[in-house]
Amino acid sequence: MQIPFLIALVGVLFSVGRASPNTGGVSCTVTASGGDDGPAFVDAVQRCDSVTIPRETTLSIATRMNMTGLKNKNIDLLGTVKFTNNMSYWINNGFPFEFQDQIAFWIVGGQNILINGGGTIDGSGQVWYDAFATNSTLLRPILLTVYQATDFAVKNITMINSPEWFNFVNEGENVVYDGINISAVSTSNNLAKNTDGWDIYRSDSVSIINSNINNGDDCVSLKPNSTNIIASDLYCNGSHGISVGSLGQYAGVYDIVENFTSTNVQMYNAENGARIKAYAGPGVGSGIVKNISYGFFTEGNVDNPLIVDQCYMTNATECAAYPSNVYIQDVAFYNFNGTSSGATKSVVASLACSPDGRCNDISVNNIFLEPPPQDGNATYSCQNVNITGNAAYLFGDCATT
Ligand SMILES: *[C@@H]1O[C@H](CO)[C@@H](O)[C@H](O)[C@H]1NC(C)=O
Ligand SMILES: *[C@@H]1O[C@H](CO)[C@@H](O)[C@H](O)[C@H]1NC(C)=O
Ligand SMILES: *[C@@H]1O[C@H](CO)[C@@H](O)[C@H](O)[C@H]1NC(C)=O
Ligand SMILES: *[C@@H]1O[C@H](CO)[C@@H](O)[C@H](O)[C@H]1NC(C)=O
Ligand SMILES: *[C@@H]1O[C@H](CO)[C@@H](O)[C@H](O)[C@H]1NC(C)=O
Ligand SMILES: *[C@@H]1O[C@H](CO)[C@@H](O)[C@H](O)[C@H]1NC(C)=O
Ligand SMILES: *[C@@H]1O[C@H](CO)[C@@H](O)[C@H](O)[C@H]1NC(C)=O
Ligand SMILES: *[C@@H]1O[C@H](CO)[C@@H](O)[C@H](O)[C@H]1NC(C)=O
Ligand SMILES: *[C@@H]1O[C@H](CO)[C@@H](O)[C@H](O)[C@H]1NC(C)=O
Ligand SMILES: *[C@@H]1O[C@H](CO)[C@@H](O)[C@H](O)[C@H]1NC(C)=O
Ligand SMILES: *[C@@H]1O[C@H](CO)[C@@H](O)[C@H](O)[C@H]1NC(C)=O
Ligand SMILES: *[C@@H]1O[C@H](CO)[C@@H](O)[C@H](O)[C@H]1NC(C)=O
Repeated sequence: MQIPFLIALVGVLFSVGRASPNTGGVSCTVTASGGDDGPAFVDAVQRCDSVTIPRETTLSIATRMNMTGLKNKNIDLLGTVKFTNNMSYWINNGFPFEFQDQIAFWIVGGQNILINGGGTIDGSGQVWYDAFATNSTLLRPILLTVYQATDFAVKNITMINSPEWFNFVNEGENVVYDGINISAVSTSNNLAKNTDGWDIYRSDSVSIINSNINNGDDCVSLKPNSTNIIASDLYCNGSHGISVGSLGQYAGVYDIVENFTSTNVQMYNAENGARIKAYAGPGVGSGIVKNISYGFFTEGNVDNPLIVDQCYMTNATECAAYPSNVYIQDVAFYNFNGTSSGATKSVVASLACSPDGRCNDISVNNIFLEPPPQDGNATYSCQNVNITGNAAYLFGDCATT
């Protein structure tokens, strides 16, 4: 059991991250002009093999940046790339993405690209957090969108105050994020909402490792068609957890999440720890969630430390009448410890599946989660699922061995 798992993990680790420093070629430096530095930055990246933004430089970006279709590029970001807070400009000019009605400040794609250098990407999010508080349909730009990229790496970068999602990996292959610090902090009473750390969509072989995330929505989220993904060695604070889904949202669309490993995660002050969620109800889509492994989670003050919800957005009656068409199979949760917040009283883990055997081969091992003292002893909830593993007995009638 363990050895094939390790081989699979190593296989995935070696198959990603081929983006390598491109030595030689033309090197350029971009410095601040006092006006909009967007066009000069885009031009430099198109012309030069290696582009440096020096340490003391803050580039002010007032126009959208299209850096797709690149080949063999290094962006050495030692300084800062800061997007302006001109909301009307960005709402009308952000790159539109149909999926979940998103817009983007900056799209980067192509082959063999490395962004690193210890610098910062700043989304000037405060105006957006404040405006969203009174306009829930406000379009807000994604900070960094990796679009149609192969062998792409982002390493050693700080990202602050994105208006909405921080990172969107859309149609990527072999994409690595390593050593990323993310922080979305509102200075007003309006929260930094929907500031997901990463959203992965229609992408294969993506690794997110060695990173710190302090935000107000999913730490990492696997959207439809995410395969061979790693999210490991992460410290997440204030988030909605590491999430597979939501899946099966759109009628007629088939969603796949296959081969996902998430290990060594510290999760604090969060809505969820490890989560899988799929829509049920009339008129939903379909799909498969397969070969998912969540292990070595240490949690503190988390509402739902371990949760599968295959009846998302339905009550039990409706879920029974219209079960989810997203099947869930081969899921392992192991080595979980820490405490819940008490938001769900004594319940520390919940596995809620649709009827008719739509969750299969779910194992739980070495689960040591506790609610806060005032909520008594930990309890475990399950429905429509058979569970194996040394902690299966905690789930009462759902235990099969
Ligand atoms: C971005 O630039 C590429 C190459 O110049 C072009 O083909 C593509 O249409 C542009 N994308 C958008 C969304 O404008
Ligand atoms: C914001 O962008 C619009 C164009 O969309 C421009 O006319 C306006 O001058 C900009 N405002 C500022 C403060 O730069
Ligand atoms: C990150 O970047 C900083 C500043 O350039 C550098 O000093 C540091 O060594 C880099 N760290 C890694 C892990 O590459
Ligand atoms: C909310 O923001 C959107 C732009 O994203 C705009 O079209 C809409 O008019 C705004 N709604 C209100 C009530 O201001
Ligand atoms: C991220 O934060 C860690 C811990 O504070 C620090 O060691 C690391 O240098 C930071 N990375 C960047 C890119 O600033
Ligand atoms: C962690 O998240 C909590 C709740 O959102 C917040 O109050 C706290 O400041 C965050 N801690 C850090 C170190 O950012
Ligand atoms: C996911 O991939 C499958 C198989 O290639 C495809 O049929 C389906 O349309 C894709 N779904 C999405 C959301 O792209
Ligand atoms: C998932 O991993 C297995 C085992 O390594 C592999 O055979 C399969 O092709 C992978 N699935 C996808 C969609 O890449
Ligand atoms: C369950 O949801 C359905 C559809 O929204 C609603 O009609 C029904 O009253 C709900 N039942 C309960 C018990 O809440
Ligand atoms: C969880 O386990 C880790 C590693 O074994 C340990 O360092 C940590 O203190 C534990 N946390 C709790 C809250 O028990
Ligand atoms: C659980 O296992 C029993 C015995 O094999 C089977 O009859 C039942 O349908 C299974 N339930 C689910 C929800 O898979
Ligand atoms: C918690 O479990 C312990 C040991 O099984 C038991 O003695 C105690 O009464 C339980 N406490 C509550 C509040 O159920």
